Amino acid sequence: MTQDLWTRVDRYVGELLIAPDATLDAALRDSDAAGLPPIAVSPAYGRMLQLLARGMGARRVLEIGTLGGYSAIWLARALPPGGRLVTLELNPRHAAVARRNVDRAGVGDRVEIRVGPAQESLRALAREGGAPFDFVFIDADKVGYADYFRLSLPLCRTGAMLVADNIVREGEVANASSADANVVAVRHFNEVVAAEPRVSATVIQTVGVKKYDGFLLAVVTS
Ligand code: SAH
Ligand code: DHB
Ligand code: MG
Repeated sequence: MTQDLWTRVDRYVGELLIAPDATLDAALRDSDAAGLPPIAVSPAYGRMLQLLARGMGARRVLEIGTLGGYSAIWLARALPPGGRLVTLELNPRHAAVARRNVDRAGVGDRVEIRVGPAQESLRALAREGGAPFDFVFIDADKVGYADYFRLSLPLCRTGAMLVADNIVREGEVANASSADANVVAVRHFNEVVAAEPRVSATVIQTVGVKKYDGFLLAVVTS
């Protein structure tokens, strides 16, 4: 009953505020056909990422965890001309599906997909010393979150915004004795963020098609 209601409200929001989009639908369909897990962000959440990135004028966006490129399309569409999304993906099969999906969405020229363990890609980005990122979306393996945060922070400008997905985990985030590796990992991630004086952060709980979960939102303040 509860999940039915959350799904109904997500559908209502989608129908009211998010225009039908054949390109995004095709990205999900092809991800599914290629056997990728159905764990992309919801339409409402994709729009939220896009609004946050656009609202803060992000020109350089970093995503960790590409899957089939669904959230990447939302984020790439937030970019101004000349903007860039760098998205990191471990699985080459996922990256190949994402490549086709972002190209079909017409944003391929702004999207760079780096294949490999995100930790290695983040270290490479640091070595390359490119322009700093304005916006970071962490959505890969939960066990890596604390490292992704530590490695992303030096790549960010002051004022950058960071969103990390799947933080609440049906409320288990508040269970200090959980033995679930993902819960332990996000709790550790939250503690690392909390202890970092250069960011100010909060966690917002969400319900919807992706059950009861939530995200961490942080801004790099210095
Ligand atoms: N952001 C996507 C969903 C990402 S799902 C969307 O909303 O559309 C998580 C992705 O992280 C998967 O594709 C998985 O292969 C990838 N991943 C898992 N471990 C990783 C690692 N160590 N480095 C980079 N990507 C990883
Ligand atoms: C899973 C991963 C995600 O990023 C998500 O949003 C939902 C589920 C998973 O690995 O099961
Ligand atoms: Mg997620």
